[in-house]
Amino acid sequence: MTDKPLIEMKQITKSYGGIRALKGIDFHLYQGEVRALLGENGAGKSTLMKILSGAESMDSGEILVNGETVSVTSPKRSRDLGISTIYQEFILAPQLSVAENIFLDRLSERKGLICWKALCQKAGALLKQMGFENIDPMTKVGDLPVAYQQIVEICKALSREARVLILDEPTAVLTFHEIEKLFQVIRKLRDEGWGIIYISHRLEEVFQICDRATILKDGTLVGAYELRGMEKKDLVNLMVGRTMQNYYPPREINIGQEVLRAEHLKAGSLVDDVSFQVRAGEVLGFYGLVGAGRTETMRALFGADVLQEGEIRLEGNKIQIRNPSEAVKNGIGLLPEDRKKEGVLLKLPIRWNTTLSNIKTFSFWGIHNHRREREVARKALKDLHTKYGSLEDAANSLSGGNQQKVALAKWLVAGCKVVILDEPTRGVDIGAKREIYSIINELARAGTGIVVVSSEMEEIMNISDRILVMRCGKITGELKKEEITEQRLIQLAMGVS
Ligand SMILES: Nc1ncnc2c1ncn2[C@@H]1O[C@H](COP(=O)(O)OP(=O)(O)OP(=O)(O)O)[C@@H](O)[C@H]1O
Ligand SMILES: [Mg+2]
Repeated sequence: MTDKPLIEMKQITKSYGGIRALKGIDFHLYQGEVRALLGENGAGKSTLMKILSGAESMDSGEILVNGETVSVTSPKRSRDLGISTIYQEFILAPQLSVAENIFLDRLSERKGLICWKALCQKAGALLKQMGFENIDPMTKVGDLPVAYQQIVEICKALSREARVLILDEPTAVLTFHEIEKLFQVIRKLRDEGWGIIYISHRLEEVFQICDRATILKDGTLVGAYELRGMEKKDLVNLMVGRTMQNYYPPREINIGQEVLRAEHLKAGSLVDDVSFQVRAGEVLGFYGLVGAGRTETMRALFGADVLQEGEIRLEGNKIQIRNPSEAVKNGIGLLPEDRKKEGVLLKLPIRWNTTLSNIKTFSFWGIHNHRREREVARKALKDLHTKYGSLEDAANSLSGGNQQKVALAKWLVAGCKVVILDEPTRGVDIGAKREIYSIINELARAGTGIVVVSSEMEEIMNISDRILVMRCGKITGELKKEEITEQRLIQLAMGVS
């Protein structure tokens, strides 16, 4: 690490209408360091990085790169300054191939003459460098699982001659296997003198990969800290402004009758003869590597994908689920993995997104009770400590983590018999995670059967009463609470004994 900062941001301010997202932030990044940027949902992390990457303009402040004042007027300008960004809500062109996506912004430079073979070779080399030679550069990006789309996004950054890499929650869609590979790449870049900015809500990872942390709270700077010698609870304290006792709230377990039974489900290549049941008040965890078929199983069960074979029983009665609205009618809710595509209707108001699944209950003989609807929406959002301006604001004005809370609030409002949560805490801060665990406990206490898909090992171990592990579309094992260990989960997920 040298003394001269690679990037210096001075007194940055930014408002969105009435919301003051950044109130005079100072930020430094040095050569050869991995700098964590931490804070609760809505603290201003993404906004600060969007300003550095030219995606947003600042209201006031100064940016210096290598000691010189620069104006970052566009994403292209930022890239030209050697800054590469991977956004929290990453943007790839789904209909284009992996190779095209990686070199997308430079395709035009060759004036219409594109050498496909060379392009694919170059893309293949980058993927190999990352340890992902199994991704075919010719595949359409839209056909890849989210985790692999993320890898493509990272390759895109690597393909540029950058010195600074900004990663906004890069591991949210990865499992430990891919995360380890990503960390190898990050360490390599750091040793080559890059400066890396790393935004994450997973503090274990921050300690693994980062050297220092800059902490924001409500748009202000809390401070910058050396991580050596610090503990998770110290960081939480700085971020949240108070000490937190236990990350996993205690729960009284009271498991009743079977509510849902799925038998011999088959859908596509990733759901192959999957059977399981959930009981009232039970939290059933689903663990597996990316691409193991967990999300696909839940989607088929919910009617979001075609169920080719299999039987579903609710409280002992056979039911037909041909589409999501039939699932909802039967009292089954699903919080999808990809909130951007399915969980939240970004352009529609927050109110609408919250009460959507339950809209009929606010109407009586054709008269819609708006006041009641707003009350219910407000309460659900408040229970999750969601930070928003007005109920009528579009959902895309929310920070990433707060969008996730809106997607979850919808199912709180609906009152389901079974709730399926696919990566429910992805992207939410530690305080909100705890809220979500409390809500899971509360739902379970009320007798809801709960299925949680999670790639966060610590989380799934702590909240589940029982865990099913999937691998290549099949269930490879079942662990009762007392049998759950990290080692067993990894063995079953990777198919080694
Ligand atoms: N386009 C926008 N319009 C209106 N408000 C916005 C917009 N983008 C961000 N905000 C607001 O600015 C504040 C900071 O948001 P930002 O996305 O920077 O938070 P964050 O720290 O990245 O949070 P998270 O951990 O949830 O991703 C939030 O209150 C958010 O609602
Ligand atoms: Mg963010």
